[in-house]
Amino acid sequence: ALKTIILIGGPMKGTRFRPLSLDLPKPLFPVAGFPVIYHHIEAASKVPNMKEIILIGFYQAQEDLTKFIINVQHEFKIQVRYLQEYTSLGTAGGIYHFRDQILMGNPEYFFVMNSDVCGDFPLVEMLEFHKHRPAGTFCTILGTEATRQQSLNYGCLAENKDTSEVLHYVEKPETFISTTINCGIYLCSPCIFEPLKRIFKQNLEENYNFDFNTPNKEVIRMEQDIFVPLASTGKLYVFHTTRFWSQIKSAGAVIYANRHYLELYRDTHPDRLAKNGEGKPKVIGDVFIHSSAQVHPTAVLGPNVSIGKNVMIGDGVRVRDSIILEGAMLQDHCCILNSIIGWNSTVGMWSRVEGTPNDPNPNKPFAKLETLSMFDDHGKLNPSITVIGSNVQVPPEVIILNSMVLPHKELSGCCKNQIIM
Ligand code: GTP
Repeated sequence: ALKTIILIGGPMKGTRFRPLSLDLPKPLFPVAGFPVIYHHIEAASKVPNMKEIILIGFYQAQEDLTKFIINVQHEFKIQVRYLQEYTSLGTAGGIYHFRDQILMGNPEYFFVMNSDVCGDFPLVEMLEFHKHRPAGTFCTILGTEATRQQSLNYGCLAENKDTSEVLHYVEKPETFISTTINCGIYLCSPCIFEPLKRIFKQNLEENYNFDFNTPNKEVIRMEQDIFVPLASTGKLYVFHTTRFWSQIKSAGAVIYANRHYLELYRDTHPDRLAKNGEGKPKVIGDVFIHSSAQVHPTAVLGPNVSIGKNVMIGDGVRVRDSIILEGAMLQDHCCILNSIIGWNSTVGMWSRVEGTPNDPNPNKPFAKLETLSMFDDHGKLNPSITVIGSNVQVPPEVIILNSMVLPHKELSGCCKNQIIM
């Protein structure tokens, strides 16, 4: 049997995702019509012999998460559970802490998936690859190519090209190591608990005599504490993918992920994509419209648009490269480009809400999404997608450009490159 562990983090994570993560844990944010981790669960449930999916995080049990779990269990007919860390234990600490639960039923292998990545995950192929590694292999890491410059923002690994063994692993290196980066998707054998246990004990012993101010000694980081020392011991391998993969750290990344998941639907779920037809809005390219949304037939949507539950879209509205969240209202003739419109927000007639994408440079092979910091060196907001938080009122006939609006605001006029708090 197999299991999958999805690391969902907790309320202190996903800060770059504000204001959207103020209303909903980031792993539940809808991309292409479904929560971020729904896509992970769907991919995992397709692997033959998958027995259980375990979410590990430090969110308090809450209604949204509980509902989500009930729904996916039902839909994918697979056991899904949430195990809550009492505090942030790091990317491997929770796995060690819940080892008995993970090992229950003697799984042969288990996947570990970071929740803040998206992609067309080649899980079945990884499994096949991992099975053919030498006995005693701890882990296979999914790797992909990045540009030299962008690689520095990721975990980088150097390998033996003949055997795919990881020879060297550095998390966010200061100088160039390799263009192969860690995708945050692993396949582990249960023997990985040997090094986990060793590191756990070592941390405890090292910290035993320190005062109570020392950081939590139960924190184990998969990357720095496990992969770094395991490199070149013959226990760690890399499996390469050239399929779509991206991190989801910022709101801008969600628009990018939305485009790619919608594109995948063409093959996997054509039924999820909106079609043109009599009495329906005009659809350009890949668009998801929730069945409960009301869209005026004169509206024009797409490409790369997701429309949530109970959204209302008026006469002549134009939406492109955007996500419109549950309960939002787009009044007649407004225009939404490269933006996210928050839950239950309203955009007034003839208004224009527009952002700037940070998409990868299409002329650079292997380029990933740019992860710009929020502000430039002069303290000005870097142009990015526009995010309207929940329950915001955008009045008629204004322009909102490259801005971020926190929840429950009533805007009074135009704004450009601003954070409205
Ligand atoms: P940042 O650039 O700081 O975000 O670091 P990173 O890209 O290395 O990401 P990080 O390792 O912090 O997180 C990877 C994934 O693990 C994310 O999906 C997080 O939500 C999750 N994660 C991080 N820390 C914890 C933790 O303490 N417990 C759990 N359960 N998950 C975590």
